[in-house]
Amino acid sequence: MIVSILAAAAENGVIGRENRLPWHLRTDLVRFRKLTMGHHVFMGRKTFDSIGKKPLAGRPTIVITRQSSYLAPGAILARSIEEAIALSAGDSEVFNLGGADIFAQSMPQAGRIYLTRVHGMIDGDARFPFIDPRQWRLVCSEAHPADEKNDYPFTFEDYERIELEREARA
Ligand SMILES: NC(=O)c1ccc[n+]([C@@H]2O[C@H](COP(=O)([O-])OP(=O)(O)OC[C@H]3O[C@@H](n4cnc5c(N)ncnc54)[C@H](OP(=O)(O)O)[C@@H]3O)[C@@H](O)[C@H]2O)c1
Repeated sequence: MIVSILAAAAENGVIGRENRLPWHLRTDLVRFRKLTMGHHVFMGRKTFDSIGKKPLAGRPTIVITRQSSYLAPGAILARSIEEAIALSAGDSEVFNLGGADIFAQSMPQAGRIYLTRVHGMIDGDARFPFIDPRQWRLVCSEAHPADEKNDYPFTFEDYERIELEREARA
């Protein structure tokens, strides 16, 4: 099973503001749905709160929290990132949906990053970690202009962990 990070980040790394996404990108939402449909997804409790405390349809939705009394009807609760990954066992790919706190802790477990790079310097209070080019190789890049359905121009960037490529060749 591969653990894949799925995120959208501005050029200054911003991914959120006041527990919301600071943009509307319709094309990104369509891709998000297509990539994740049928797969396990996990996210931090604050991100789950921000999407209305509802599991994503068609995707077993795991919420990571340290609170023993947190209620998330229809979702699965995990006490750690490791538990969320273990609960996804048997799936071919599990998606790490963030937010900033979860991304910051879980880069080492990920084998792939699907990043939507939003072309703007955008104010916010949540950021994506640095993607170290010694550890991650850009394998695909697809640019899109802004239009009536997308607030900013953006590029879909797919990264793969370099160690995984080496192992595959060995
Ligand atoms: N652009 C994007 O791709 C994207 C994606 C997702 C989210 N976002 C944005 O990111 C922001 C939210 O990020 P955030 O950093 O504030 O919160 P977050 O990462 O969504 O959630 C943090 C919460 O997760 C739980 N948690 C974190 N680490 C844990 C661990 N090791 N073990 C157990 N529980 C753990 C804790 O919940 P408890 O407090 O309940 O214990 C913590 O308060 C929002 O602005 C959102 O819109 C953007």
